[in-house]
Amino acid sequence: MKIAIAADHAGFRLKEKIKEYLASAGYQVQDFGTSSEDPVDYPDFGLTAASAVMNGSCDLGILVCGTGLGMAIAANKIPGIRAVTCSDTFSARSSREHNDANVLCLGARVIGEGLAMDIVKVWLSSSFQGGRHERRVNKIREIEGRYFGGRGDGG
Ligand code: RB5
Repeated sequence: MKIAIAADHAGFRLKEKIKEYLASAGYQVQDFGTSSEDPVDYPDFGLTAASAVMNGSCDLGILVCGTGLGMAIAANKIPGIRAVTCSDTFSARSSREHNDANVLCLGARVIGEGLAMDIVKVWLSSSFQGGRHERRVNKIREIEGRYFGGRGDGG
């Protein structure tokens, strides 16, 4: 499985930790930056990483900024992206099982490194349950299609 990862300056350190973990756990990782704590704009980095998920070159994405909020707002503008900000493991698991979230956003100024790593592990080891949830996710795709054109999943 290939994971797209990106951060702004506020998320840079946590991104590096997550990247280390992903590599050690056997995931392929594509790092879309940033590469230091020099100030940058989170939408630039969220866009490139989430685009890789949309076009299928990466399977899932993990974005880190100060709050995890700006990254999620930006990523969710991309058709087919279902980005969620999680600060607990229950939401992280549910976001995969119920919402088929394909981008996880974390707030490096909100949660500590230990919790962030647990959230990443839970999120990556959970999968979409389909069934009644499929119908609901399809309704999200229909909303996307209405505003963005196409099927709303990049197709
Ligand atoms: C940067 O100061 C901060 O605004 C950014 O990391 C993020 O929290 C935005 O949502």
